[in-house]
Amino acid sequence: MWRKISFREWPYILHPRPVTIVASKFKNKLSAMAASWTMPVSRKPPVVAVAIAKNRFTYELIIKSKEFSLNLLPKEHLDKIQFLGTVSGREFVNKIKAANLTMANARRISSPIILESLAILECVLRKDIESGDHNIIVGEIIEAYARKEFNILNEETIRRIPLHVRSNKYTSPIGEIIEVE
Ligand SMILES: Cc1cc2nc3c(=O)[nH]c(=O)nc-3n(C[C@H](O)[C@H](O)[C@H](O)COP(=O)(O)O)c2cc1C
Repeated sequence: MWRKISFREWPYILHPRPVTIVASKFKNKLSAMAASWTMPVSRKPPVVAVAIAKNRFTYELIIKSKEFSLNLLPKEHLDKIQFLGTVSGREFVNKIKAANLTMANARRISSPIILESLAILECVLRKDIESGDHNIIVGEIIEAYARKEFNILNEETIRRIPLHVRSNKYTSPIGEIIEVE
């Protein structure tokens, strides 16, 4: 009736989940990585948490700069998301450019943002919590904006949000909004 789930497999009980791009910059070094272990953790103040492995270059840049942006790219850019999630920014002068994405200045932080995004959060590091092979990066959102057409209640918007299934497999919400009474 039940089958055993291995320690390797269990996180995927909590997938599929939206994949975001976390970007950060310190001095002349920058990076951006795919992150699907992301979640909202407070409304007031607005706070987001991302589980990031300590060996990621992006982790190093966040700890040094104390800032990061969280970019929601539409599923048209899945190949770029996969690129950002499989190579390290240590290998490139500009990993965002290498991914064929357009980098721009954020409004209030030094981290770059990605112009192809549907929505963007600008965050300031509040806490870096040990949890195992990933740390929990807790960021206060100091600026949030989205494309004019972005509306989470709109099926067109929902359909464009990429969900990470596992490794290089993705899906997207079917787009039907079901209202529960
Ligand atoms: C879809 C996807 C989601 C990912 N989610 C996470 C995550 O939530 N946390 C994490 O530490 N790494 C995650 N990764 C792996 C990093 O994105 C990957 O190691 C990346 O190359 C790190 O780049 P950097 O060294 O430039 O920071 C994910 C990879 C993919 C493809």
